[in-house]
Amino acid sequence: MPLLEVDRVSKRFGGLRAVSGASFSIGEKEIVFLVGPNGAGKTTLFNLITGFIHPDEGRIRFAGTDVTLITPNRAARLGIGRTFQIVKPLGSLTVLENVMLGAFLHTASRARAAHDAREVLAYLRMEAVAAATARDLPLAMLKRLEIARALATRPKLILLDEVVSGLSTAEAMALAALLQKLPERGVAAVGGVEHVMRVVVSIANRVVVLDHGAQIAEGEPHDVVRMPAVVEAYLGAKFRERHL
Ligand SMILES: Nc1ncnc2c1ncn2[C@@H]1O[C@H](COP(=O)(O)OP(=O)(O)O)[C@@H](O)[C@H]1O
Ligand SMILES: [Mg+2]
Repeated sequence: MPLLEVDRVSKRFGGLRAVSGASFSIGEKEIVFLVGPNGAGKTTLFNLITGFIHPDEGRIRFAGTDVTLITPNRAARLGIGRTFQIVKPLGSLTVLENVMLGAFLHTASRARAAHDAREVLAYLRMEAVAAATARDLPLAMLKRLEIARALATRPKLILLDEVVSGLSTAEAMALAALLQKLPERGVAAVGGVEHVMRVVVSIANRVVVLDHGAQIAEGEPHDVVRMPAVVEAYLGAKFRERHL
């Protein structure tokens, strides 16, 4: 049984089909990236999986439970963690305190939450900024803080919305190296990225390509980026030369 099953899910906003019959599944400890240009429906899919919005058609199952009409709070309790495309830490709190907010999902003990938060910060190589005020962090660390907050909830699955966008290639590579270890922590991941960034796609077991809310390709990263349909849809020959 897959950990997550998205089964013919569609979502319309007025006349706009944001997601159109998306079907894919994620196995335990698997890393999958959704690739698609701005507006392809990636964030909408993440909002559907985490119960912020509900589909017009289709079903979503997580660890054997139907979560199609779930609430965000219940999704988090079941083990679905997420980051937001627009980073929104509590700016006046320290990095450690922000991450503790995630840990409070599974413990009421302040000491336990601090302990768990420190462990996550160590994993993400953020010990040095634990006491810094969140609003003072550079973007690369803010993106990691989003991931740390989500990991502190102890998810089985984490949805990473554009966690590498805005980062330099070196920053993205460093982050990808950390994300690659998520399966060792027992965490599966679904990432969303606008471009086929080699560094990110290289850590994925599979890639799902979306275009205008519909899935146009799925497969191993190496194969997918060479599929004519994918290249034609939006990558373009120039893009391919530059990034692949
Ligand atoms: N709450 C909403 N109301 C209306 N339209 C929306 C809403 N959320 C997303 N959309 C539209 O749905 C489409 C898919 O958006 P989105 O899922 O954010 O794409 P991506 O994350 O791949 O850039 C876009 O055309 C976007 O404008
Ligand atoms: Mg988005």
